[in-house]
Amino acid sequence: MRIGLTFDLRSDYLKEGYTEEETAEFDKESTVEAIERELHFLGHSTERIGHILNLTRKLVSGERWDLVFNISEGLYGIGREAQVPAILDAYKIPYTFSDPLVLALTLHKGMTKHVIRDCGIPTPDFAIVSSMKDLGAVDLPYPLFVKPNAEGSGKGIAFNSKVSNPEELRTTCADRWKERNFPLLVETYLPGREFTVGILGTGEESFSVGAMEVIFRQTAGESIYSYDMKANYEQFVDYALPEPEVMGPICEMALKAWKALECRDGGRVDVRLDAQGITNFIEVNPLAGLNDITSDLPILARMNGYDYSFIIKTVIDSAVKRIKQ
Ligand SMILES: Nc1ncnc2c1ncn2[C@@H]1O[C@H](COP(=O)(O)OP(=O)(O)O)[C@@H](O)[C@H]1O
Ligand SMILES: [Mg+2]
Repeated sequence: MRIGLTFDLRSDYLKEGYTEEETAEFDKESTVEAIERELHFLGHSTERIGHILNLTRKLVSGERWDLVFNISEGLYGIGREAQVPAILDAYKIPYTFSDPLVLALTLHKGMTKHVIRDCGIPTPDFAIVSSMKDLGAVDLPYPLFVKPNAEGSGKGIAFNSKVSNPEELRTTCADRWKERNFPLLVETYLPGREFTVGILGTGEESFSVGAMEVIFRQTAGESIYSYDMKANYEQFVDYALPEPEVMGPICEMALKAWKALECRDGGRVDVRLDAQGITNFIEVNPLAGLNDITSDLPILARMNGYDYSFIIKTVIDSAVKRIKQ
């Protein structure tokens, strides 16, 4: 097949003056190269399309592909992750990973939690706040956790994300809103162990490739997988395989969430244990990082016996089934 690649190259945005943190979710050149290598190995030819503006220019000039391998997370708007898939749908070009509905929903952590809760999957109680006056209506027991409603890669998460009383809640929210107000998700703090689960495939054919525990070292201070922790994971965290009796139920819950949300081809579900030791859903990543060395999905898959080639091949196989339908 002739496969086009859509992505947001981090270096393009850094050149334009964006900061490391603003571009935290964007891709490294090495990620695109690793995906290309695997696709060539599978016998496909590839073409780099790049970001959404390049995609639209190419489409208008008449270019087409048999399949697009889409890892573009977009830059503007709550629908930013859904934009490339929506455009590809309009041109009837098949693509890897989830559809616009899933990508728009799951970028909004609060809306996703409504659906997850409706499916009977445990997730902390929460409120969405967009201004200081919303804080008065927060009626949840402390400690609470404060994070951006629609970000990823640990952006906007720091040592003061865990708050123990209304005053700390106000201080943290005021700090996040220093430059501009945006929706924050305030939810019950989960004090237990943290895991991230890898899922490959779609619907009934999806399966878990296993989980890894994120263990915070003393140097990490708080047990929070923030942007700094992720960016310097070799310094702050250890990754470990959970015991089999823990692994089973975590993976089962993550798979249930994956199917309920109708995510496709591959991604990750982040979970954490509550005070009672019950596994709670934190968030799903339907466009999980795919750097072969540093991203969580390839790392956890490797620890569970699945290599990078297997991930890319399974994603392609899963997407190709849709073309044939
Ligand atoms: N309710 C919570 N209780 C405790 N820690 C949390 C909670 N929500 C998030 N965290 C911590 O913050 C990290 C990032 O949160 P997450 O929602 O996964 O955001 P991101 O999209 O940035 O990965 C989690 O991996 C976890 O360490
Ligand atoms: Mg996460």
